[in-house]
Amino acid sequence: MLRRSLFKSAGLLAGAAAFGSAVPAASAADAKVFVPSEKTPLLLNFNENSLGMSAKAKAAVADAVNGAFRYPDALREELQEEIAKTLGVKMENVSLGNGSSETIQAVVHAVAEKARRAGSPVQLIVPDPTFGCAEGYADAVGMAVVKVPLTGPKLAFDLDAMKKAARDFKGISLVYACNPNNPTATVTPSALLEAWVKEAGPDVVFLFDEAYAEFVTDPAFVSAVELVKAGVPNVVVARTFSKIFAMAGLRIGYAVAVKDTCSAVDGFASVDNINAAGAAAGIASLRDKVFIEKSKSSVELSRAIVVKALTELGLEYLPSQTNFIFHKIKGDHKLYKSRMAESHVFVGREFPPAVGWNRLTLGTPEEMKAFVKVLKDFRAKGWI
Ligand SMILES: Cc1ncc(COP(=O)(O)O)c(C=O)c1O
Repeated sequence: MLRRSLFKSAGLLAGAAAFGSAVPAASAADAKVFVPSEKTPLLLNFNENSLGMSAKAKAAVADAVNGAFRYPDALREELQEEIAKTLGVKMENVSLGNGSSETIQAVVHAVAEKARRAGSPVQLIVPDPTFGCAEGYADAVGMAVVKVPLTGPKLAFDLDAMKKAARDFKGISLVYACNPNNPTATVTPSALLEAWVKEAGPDVVFLFDEAYAEFVTDPAFVSAVELVKAGVPNVVVARTFSKIFAMAGLRIGYAVAVKDTCSAVDGFASVDNINAAGAAAGIASLRDKVFIEKSKSSVELSRAIVVKALTELGLEYLPSQTNFIFHKIKGDHKLYKSRMAESHVFVGREFPPAVGWNRLTLGTPEEMKAFVKVLKDFRAKGWI
C-alpha cells in the first residue's frame, strides 16, 4: 500500500493541514524536549526528514516566488546543471521528476513502450518487500510483476532467484532494486549488483532506486551512477530531494542514465514537471554542504538513540543505512500501532511478508528521545 492510501486509511487527511502546513514548533531541531500531543503528533511513519529544509533553501524558495509568474525553464536548467556537477555527469544524463515517484513511473512507462515496440513480453522483478511505487505503476500499465521474497535473517535480496526470474523470461525484464532497500534500511553490496548488470543482456533493464544514498556510510555501497558514467545503457538511477534535503513537500526527484536512456525516460515525464520554488530549493540545498552534514549527523544521532533503546529492550533490528530503521515488535502489530497512535506517535507499518517487523522513521534526536520514552513505557506495561 502506498503512502497516499495509508494516509487516507489512517484518517490523517482531516489533520493534514495541521501536520503539513508547518513543522510543529516542538519538533524543530532546536527544541529541547518533544512531547507528542494531539496537536503536535510524532510522525515517524513516512520516512520524512523532520529536521526541515536548509535555511538557505527556504530563502531560495521565498526569492523564487517573486519570479514565479514565469515558466520555470531557467531554474530547471540550473538545477539539472547543479545535479550533474554534483554527481560528475552531464546535463544530458539527468531527467527531472516531480519527486522520484514520477521518475519511477516514467521508467516503467519507457520500458513498457520499449517492449510494445519490440512486440516483446515485459515483466517487472521486485524484491519483496520493497518500496511499492514501481509495482503500482507496473500494475497500472498491465505489466506482470514478479515478487521475489527477501531471504535469510537479515532480509537480503535473493539475487539468485531474481536473476533466475530474468533468465527464464522470454522478453524484457525491468529489475527494480532499491538500495538501500525500503523498508529494511539495509544495503545490498554494489559489487553483487554490478556483477549482475555485467552478465545480464540488453533485455534486462535495471532501475536502481537510491532515495537514501546520501545517508549511507557502508563502503559496500557504491552509487550505480558509476555504471552510468561507465556508459552502461540499461541502467537508470532514481534519486530524490525528499530525504536528505527534507524537501518531500516540494516534489523534486531525478533519473540519471546515459543520454539515450535518459531521453527515453524523459519522454514519459510531464513537461515542466517541477516548479520554480522546488527547483530553487534544490539548487540551494545541493550547494549547502553544511546542511547536508547536519542532516546526516542528525540521523546518525537519532539512530544511535533508537539502537541503544532497542538493544536494551532486546528488540532485534537490522543495520540501518537510512533515515529509518526496521525493527522487531513483540506481540500484535496492529495493537502496537494503535497504542502508539493513542500516545500520539505514528510509527510505520508492517511489510508482509516480513511480519513482526516495524519500519520506524528516524526523526530529530529530540523526537527519537520522545519515541524511546513511549517505547519503554510500553515495555513497563508488558505490551512489547
Ligand atoms: C525508496 C523510495 N523511493 C522513492 C520514494 C519517493 O520519493 P519522492 O518523494 O521523491 O517521490 C520513496 C519515498 O518514501 C522511497 O522510500
